[in-house]
Amino acid sequence: MLNIAQPEEVTFSPELITRFNEIVTRYPEGKQKSALLPILHLVQAEFGWVSAPAMDKVAEYLHIKSIEVYEVATFYTMFFLKPLGKHVLEVCRTGPCCLVGAEKIMKYIEQKLGVKEGEVTPDGLFSWRGVECLAACGMGPVLQIGPEYKFHENLTEAKIDELIDSLRLTTADKPQIS
Ligand code: FES
Repeated sequence: MLNIAQPEEVTFSPELITRFNEIVTRYPEGKQKSALLPILHLVQAEFGWVSAPAMDKVAEYLHIKSIEVYEVATFYTMFFLKPLGKHVLEVCRTGPCCLVGAEKIMKYIEQKLGVKEGEVTPDGLFSWRGVECLAACGMGPVLQIGPEYKFHENLTEAKIDELIDSLRLTTADKPQIS
């Protein structure tokens, strides 16, 4: 479905399945499809992205068609359909943030990381991309980092330096991409 190398097979750990099961119990009998969004979030948190085989597995688990999972995963931009860095810096690029320097911040991140939007740094640690309004317009420029979606507000180049350096320090020995 995507012109990107996909893993041939994906295995969900028993721990992950237990979390799926817990989510499904929140919905009425026969409405297990409602668990799709939170389950896709768990899959992304586990694997770093949502591959086609992972979506097929989710469909199998929820007893729905694969296309129903593809439709949802490709509609919401928070799901990554290709491998990205362990830390994805998502910078708001909507009008109010642009007025206070979002574009300059994105340029700075591109230059600092040495990769373009949507690419992955050679160590597998970082990607960045522009996203639409993060609902923190009064604190722009702003970015978020998943999977916890932690916000970093009133960004400056110095704050970007500090953020990237601290993420590097804490995760340099655990690259996501092999
Ligand atoms: Fe950037 Fe709303 S415009 S958070």
